[in-house]
Amino acid sequence: NEAVLQDQHGRRFSYLRLSVTDVCNFRCNYCLPDGYQCHDQQQPLSLAEIRTIALAFARMGTRKIRITGGEPSLRKDLTDIIRTLKATPGIDTVALTTNGYRLTHQIRDWAAAGLDQLNVSIDSLDPKQFRAITGHDKLQEILAGIELAKELGIKSIKVNAVLLKGWNANELPEFLAWLKNTQVTLRFIELMQTGDNAEFFDANHVSGEKVREQLLQNGWQPRLRQAHSGPAQEFSHPDYQGNIGLIMPYSKDFCSSCNRLRISSQGKLHLCLFGDEGYELRPLLSAADEDLICQRIRELLLGKKATHFLHDGQTGAMQHFSMLGG
Ligand code: GTP
Ligand code: 5AD
Ligand code: SF4
Repeated sequence: NEAVLQDQHGRRFSYLRLSVTDVCNFRCNYCLPDGYQCHDQQQPLSLAEIRTIALAFARMGTRKIRITGGEPSLRKDLTDIIRTLKATPGIDTVALTTNGYRLTHQIRDWAAAGLDQLNVSIDSLDPKQFRAITGHDKLQEILAGIELAKELGIKSIKVNAVLLKGWNANELPEFLAWLKNTQVTLRFIELMQTGDNAEFFDANHVSGEKVREQLLQNGWQPRLRQAHSGPAQEFSHPDYQGNIGLIMPYSKDFCSSCNRLRISSQGKLHLCLFGDEGYELRPLLSAADEDLICQRIRELLLGKKATHFLHDGQTGAMQHFSMLGG
């Protein structure tokens, strides 16, 4: 039971992305422009169910769990979730992806509970533009929260910016100026097409290749891919404290370095961000029978495809990112 999870295509999975709620309070124009709509679902995974998932995955070689949403900090027990995951034997890294809304208020608790890595979305460094994209006037506060996280000793801090033609695609100089003295990894993410953003996607998708060319022209050097780095390509520059990552899911080899599986807030296993509807694990969770859970996950993993469907212009089953946390 100890051997690390592996699929039919030779990829190993030691990293789980766990969505703890699909509710979000932001209205990012590429994700939830009309705000969160209630889907009339069951309750999200309970703390006990989350513990069972962590124990089962840790037994199958999972070492890192990233908490995603919706917006995870909308859960009142997020600090308990972090503590529970961190206390799971075998889990050495607990990470969180957040829109930053509660960062300044809660980062102390999260750090004390054992949070190792923090990813925050910042799609623009211009406060007006930030508000136009997300619906919230929170940029300065979120930047302050990131500083606080650094002071508290959070080792890895990444900032996510989705590349949007009509909104931030010409902001590279501002982002670079910020990275000069800021020790974070800024990741530019290519906009992905979901079930309900087709028009927005057509109007705003920009290839990460454009950014890549500009970086290379300006002395940024590709970093060697680490075994655990997953799909992002990283760049560094001797004059800059920060690093840059590019996430280009439409590029040819993107899926070959896939190292992650996903669990939705409703307790379904998703083998890929795109292209499957998820496989129900919840009945097994309530029995808390780890052997059965592991057996089922190993079985399901045999069906993981070599690549996702984005390349064919299909959007798979996903409505928007708040359902699965990206
Ligand atoms: P770490 O590697 O743990 O730092 O995380 P990450 O960059 O994968 O996490 P984060 O939650 O910050 O996600 C950043 C963006 O990358 C989101 O838009 C994700 O949807 C996207 N992303 C991450 N993994 C995958 C993947 O396997 N496939 C696709 N298509 N996109 C991904
Ligand atoms: N394409 C690319 N990235 C997206 N995100 C949300 N929706 C999309 C999309 N359609 C990003 C958020 C956040 C991360 C978890 O996913 O900006 O940084
Ligand atoms: Fe924005 Fe994330 Fe909320 Fe979607 S789930 S609206 S990307 S903060």
